[in-house]
Amino acid sequence: MKKARFTPLQIAVHLGAWYPLVRLVFDALTGVLSANPIQDAEQRLGRAAITLLVLSLSATPLNTLFGWREPLKRRRALGLYAFFYAALHVAVFVALDYGFAWALIVETIVEKRYTLVGAAAWTLLALLAVTSFDFWKRRLRKNWKRLHRLVYLAAPLDVLHYAWAKKGDVFQLQGDILRPLAYGVLVLVLLLMRLPAVRRLLSATRRAR
Ligand code: HEM
Repeated sequence: MKKARFTPLQIAVHLGAWYPLVRLVFDALTGVLSANPIQDAEQRLGRAAITLLVLSLSATPLNTLFGWREPLKRRRALGLYAFFYAALHVAVFVALDYGFAWALIVETIVEKRYTLVGAAAWTLLALLAVTSFDFWKRRLRKNWKRLHRLVYLAAPLDVLHYAWAKKGDVFQLQGDILRPLAYGVLVLVLLLMRLPAVRRLLSATRRAR
């Protein structure tokens, strides 16, 4: 029998990743964005970016927990989609929010802690996206893996950016922090599951099952 060209997970990843953008364009064209459409678009794109990043981070733990290998093959696409949305998010900020007023853009990014952290996370994601291709994998060899561990820094920075953008204080449990807190806990768990001791324990439990 001929092998299926696309797996169900692959189809779900691509359809799911395009959905927020298609929905945003549709809502913009039909005029159902909020009273502040630029902010609405900016927020939706930001949320899509962080969600896809968290999904890409969950590939390895899924493999550790269930021995399911396929998510590992979808990690790169999910990471690239995360960067794609982060790039659109920043494009809306630069073009629609600030009308390419570069001096003001730089001033805002540097002055506000949440944009500064967002810019740091964005820079890391850009570096990871550019070097995600096989060409760089071959060139950088062992260093490629080391470089791509920067995602463990980018993800918490994104969560911090999210929490601070919502004017919430995670440490004092103040403001609109429920969603950023949920992402924070998820990222923490996904990162903890990568620690060699935790990973060994989880793999041993799986094999025992
Ligand atoms: C130069 C980099 C960045 C800039 C200038 C920036 C700018 C902003 C701004 C202005 C907001 C607040 C929108 C509002 O509520 O008025 C925001 C929110 C947000 N950003 Fe960013 N951002 C950057 C990078 C990122 C990255 C890399 C991610 C994720 C991968 C991200 C995810 C989010 C999320 C999730 C929100 C909150 C959305 C919500 O309110 O529901 N941002 N960002």
